[in-house]
Amino acid sequence: MNDRLYIFDTTLRDGEQSPGASMTKEEKLRIARQLEKLGVDVIEAGFAAASPGDAEAIHAIAESICESTVCSLARANERDIRAAGEAIRPAKSGRIHTFIATSPIHMEKKLRMQPDQVVEAAIKAVKLAREYTDNVEFSAEDAVRSDIDFLCRIFEEVIKAGARTINVPDTVGYSIPALWGERMKQLIERVPNSDKVIWSTHCHNDLGMAVANSLAAVMAGARQVECTINGLGERAGNASLEEIVMAVRTRKDVFACDTRIDTTQIVPASKLVSSITGYPVQPNKAIVGANAFAHESGIHQDGVIKHRETYEIMRAEDVGWKANRLTLGKLSGRNAFKTKLAELGIVLDSEEALNAAFARFKELADKKREIFDEDLQALVSDEGYAAEHERFKLVSLKVCSETGETPHARLVITDEGQEKSAQGNGSGPVDATFKALESVVNSGADLLLYSVNNITSGTDAQGEVTVRLAKDSRIVNGQGADTDIVVASAKAYLHALNKLHTKLERAHPQV
Ligand code: KIV
Ligand code: ZN
Repeated sequence: MNDRLYIFDTTLRDGEQSPGASMTKEEKLRIARQLEKLGVDVIEAGFAAASPGDAEAIHAIAESICESTVCSLARANERDIRAAGEAIRPAKSGRIHTFIATSPIHMEKKLRMQPDQVVEAAIKAVKLAREYTDNVEFSAEDAVRSDIDFLCRIFEEVIKAGARTINVPDTVGYSIPALWGERMKQLIERVPNSDKVIWSTHCHNDLGMAVANSLAAVMAGARQVECTINGLGERAGNASLEEIVMAVRTRKDVFACDTRIDTTQIVPASKLVSSITGYPVQPNKAIVGANAFAHESGIHQDGVIKHRETYEIMRAEDVGWKANRLTLGKLSGRNAFKTKLAELGIVLDSEEALNAAFARFKELADKKREIFDEDLQALVSDEGYAAEHERFKLVSLKVCSETGETPHARLVITDEGQEKSAQGNGSGPVDATFKALESVVNSGADLLLYSVNNITSGTDAQGEVTVRLAKDSRIVNGQGADTDIVVASAKAYLHALNKLHTKLERAHPQV
């Protein structure tokens, strides 16, 4: 059996389907470059038929990525497949991933199609996709609740039609490892020509078993796993890439395969995705959580000091944890700044953007003696937000907070370039700031989430704030970073408002 396990990353497609995680083209490009550095085999860059903007982002990624295959999702219909085929056209290696639901409940209630019609649509879709590329993947959505005989039939037909990867999704996160492994084994045994294709698994985490189910499928013969950085994805998320990769690497004795992932790029990828999407990583998350390699108890510390392997099965540095690296300081010039950004894979598309980022860097270096890689990532994200969606901008903020007194905020913003001032009281300085902002913008949005994370350590670190707002069935995340967390909060709130004001008409592939 093939001992290569292919990693198919869907952070930019299924990950982006998480509430508020939608990304701009530039943000997607930054993540795609990091995924390429990480060594993923396939980058699912989006769903081209969702909107012209989505197709453009896939096209831009296809133009700039050389080492990974770039893929677009497409429902099994002509319009979607043609949009996907055009979007991946510039790719050195491109794939179309087409899918249709195969469970009785999805066929009857969602598609309103008979099983025969579903098989016919799948065959047509694969044949059309093959006109654009030899690299075609077919998925049977909701395979977990599909009849196994029907799955065998449709997979046999799409292999005949030219599909080269067959993906078996647990769309609703319903399976358990023993059953999922058994399903994969039966499919590989029963489908004619199963040895001509790569079998793939795509698991959701609704019962917390996405990684366990994916690994059970690998043990049964799957050689592609679809996963996301930090397990981002619809509802409870997808299988997390870092856990899959480190499980197969650490337990080589159990898994008869390995990936080509450069594991030292895992933590940088995790931090980048978290900062762009505004989804913080829980401290006790395996591999990429801040505590994943911290030994709190005295007994463990003693053991690790005497002999590391007493309590550690992996090395922190192997997955990319390193002491925060001093990058630049107050005296660093524009050239050093530009070179460092390039090293971090950050490409600013104009001199103007570079000048603005450099000015922000100088401001930050005045407040904070040491500037780390993470500070630069946050700074560039912050600049990007300000440039992209600039209806509202923060001009100044003054907050008074004193024991026994009601916190009060006074601020000035620009709305389409026009200055407006406001003030507000609140239960704390952040609450007062948000009340002041609302009094002038009157968005009426609901605040669903407010979180602060320190970007590096120390009390002079920048705080990165995420604000999630909901209005008229749209959910958006806003981010802001600053050494003053109240200022970071105001920026994050305005960033979310700016996103709410950007009208986005996008189709969801599975609805
Ligand atoms: O979860 C799912 O079934 C999907 C398919 C589109 C592969 O994301
Ligand atoms: Zn999915």
